[in-house]
Amino acid sequence: MDKKLKGSLIIVGTGLQVGGQTTISAQAHIQNADIVFATVTDNVSKHWFDSLNENIVDLTQYYGSNKSRLITYKEMTDAIVNAVKQGKRVCAAFYGHPGVFVMSSHKAIEQLLAEGYQAKMEPGISAEDCLVADLGLDPGRVGYQAFEATQFLFYQRKFDENCILVLWQIGLIGDHTLKISKTDSYHLGLKVLTEELLDYYPADHEVIVYEAATISIFSARIDRMALIDLPKAELTAISTLVIPSLGALEFDVATLDKLNLTVDDVKK
Ligand SMILES: C[S@@+](CC[C@H](N)C(=O)[O-])C[C@H]1O[C@@H](n2cnc3c(N)ncnc32)[C@H](O)[C@@H]1O
Repeated sequence: MDKKLKGSLIIVGTGLQVGGQTTISAQAHIQNADIVFATVTDNVSKHWFDSLNENIVDLTQYYGSNKSRLITYKEMTDAIVNAVKQGKRVCAAFYGHPGVFVMSSHKAIEQLLAEGYQAKMEPGISAEDCLVADLGLDPGRVGYQAFEATQFLFYQRKFDENCILVLWQIGLIGDHTLKISKTDSYHLGLKVLTEELLDYYPADHEVIVYEAATISIFSARIDRMALIDLPKAELTAISTLVIPSLGALEFDVATLDKLNLTVDDVKK
């Protein structure tokens, strides 16, 4: 076999709380890899990673002020892919679910599979999973839809106000430069978003700014407010906006008819 093809990649998620929300399988991959590329977000995660493997490379080094995140993600992908091509057993660990809003993980897998290497991803606990638990919102009840906040604003997206609406990266809303990492310029985007949402929801409809706890001894941030007050919310890079459903589901009588059913047959 070509020596190059000996390399392999496993991508894992650490959950939002490293250690506590990391699967046993993900932890074993981190321990057994020749090299681990990891998003080390704080000292707690640094100690945790260092205790598992002595060859940790911190991927956050690729972020830079006034640097496009697209360049950063390409550099992360290249670092991971190059290590695999050197014949190493590589593990890349991203916080949350490694495939949710993470460009480098998907790109590295695509690239390596196309070149004949072994590469795969394991799931992790994402912000969305924590949100369901902390807010008690079951996606199965009225449905669930999620968008990246800036994309939701820039494009004409169809959504259902009778379904839960979740907007990721709300703290970066309106940023077209992809250069902002600390949130300070979301105010106009948030104001315009609120104006648009007011076409669908009443002004007093409750919305929630949510931040899951990243350390187990802390509580989640769950700030409930009326939609009209959303422009005053203080957001951070880890804020997610949750807009609960209006809850007014209407039967599709024509389809029920095709199924030989009436509203009375299926009403609970
Ligand atoms: C680049 S994405 C990474 C998502 C991550 N891979 C996951 O699975 O949760 C960053 C966005 O995820 C959401 N997020 C990250 N950390 C969060 C937290 N602690 N609580 C709530 N949302 C969070 C926010 O919407 C944030 O802007």
